[in-house]
Amino acid sequence: MITHKDHFHGSDLEKIEKIYGIKKEDIISFSANVNPLGISPLMRERLTSNLDCISTYPDREYTALRDSIGNYNNCDANDVIVGNGTTELISLFIEIMHPKKAIVLGPTYSEYEREVTLNGGTTLYYPLKAENDFELDINHFTSKLDASIDMIILCNPNNPTSSSIPKSDMRHILDVCKENDIYVLVDETYVEFVDNINAISSVSLCTYYNNIIVLRGTSKFFASPGLRLGYAITGNKDLKKEILKRQDPWSINSLADIAGQIMFSDEKYINDTRSLVSAEKNRMYELFSKDDRFRPYKPSANFMLIEILDNDLDSEILFEQAIRENLMIRDCSTFPFLSNKFIRFCFMNPEDNDRLAQCLMR
Ligand SMILES: Cc1ncc(COP(=O)(O)O)c(C=O)c1O
Repeated sequence: MITHKDHFHGSDLEKIEKIYGIKKEDIISFSANVNPLGISPLMRERLTSNLDCISTYPDREYTALRDSIGNYNNCDANDVIVGNGTTELISLFIEIMHPKKAIVLGPTYSEYEREVTLNGGTTLYYPLKAENDFELDINHFTSKLDASIDMIILCNPNNPTSSSIPKSDMRHILDVCKENDIYVLVDETYVEFVDNINAISSVSLCTYYNNIIVLRGTSKFFASPGLRLGYAITGNKDLKKEILKRQDPWSINSLADIAGQIMFSDEKYINDTRSLVSAEKNRMYELFSKDDRFRPYKPSANFMLIEILDNDLDSEILFEQAIRENLMIRDCSTFPFLSNKFIRFCFMNPEDNDRLAQCLMR
């Protein structure tokens, strides 16, 4: 039996190809958390007739792109900064703030800690508890905040737990942070997949608080991780100025500039994605809830964390079982606070989800 000593990021298809001899085109990635509908049909149609745009530099201010992001998010286009994926903006923001002490939830996306460490800071984890369904205990969390902390980084909904913090609780966090001079980064990479976006997203809070920056991307919801288009929303003009000062010019290429303007207006695709993910989210949660070998945690985003309760199973066994059928899930044993008793997978098309459920529940 081949054992995977390496752990795979959701996008490591090349590694899988090499180790397991499966062509990457044949792998169904349940680990990359990308919209199963693929790219926006409207964008596919219109972008091809705009290919000549690469023969000129993009607008250095990205005015049209920021306008379409402003419309899509119902926010002021002047509060929008575009970036080369959310990753560039996480990096720029942390570089500028260079926090000595940052708090992140545990478990969460690993990039935050990497950036804080690269900039000479220390990351403290506030553990989310399995017995609380990995939901944040807001009163306990805020009671731990004081002026020695420089930054809080919240992934909302959180990867890999798929739990989310309601906007009302976020307001409370921001109030306590304001008193203690703490800056809050909210990574909303997955927020468009939640059923009640207005109750979760912090975008509208950017008008009232100057200690928040919200990050969004197009990699997951708009299924375009190769485009590298992300954006930040903040009402803090000084911060915006500082980010723009440090960012390389033309960080977003002309194709991504135009693609963004088209995809944010593809309402049919946006609605189709929401209904598909919402239906599959409920269906897969119900399905796994009925099998006493598994404990699924109620997902708010387009992926689900599952605890393996069966003593004879672990994340490596299930990863192997799935990859042999060309289905790639995320073995969560490398996430701090999780173990080899946790896996994560995203919701794909119904027939693919059925295949995965049959494979894992064998
Ligand atoms: C929570 C979270 N934030 C950011 C990213 C990276 O996003 P982007 O492709 O927009 O740089 C990922 C990718 O997996 C993620 O899970």
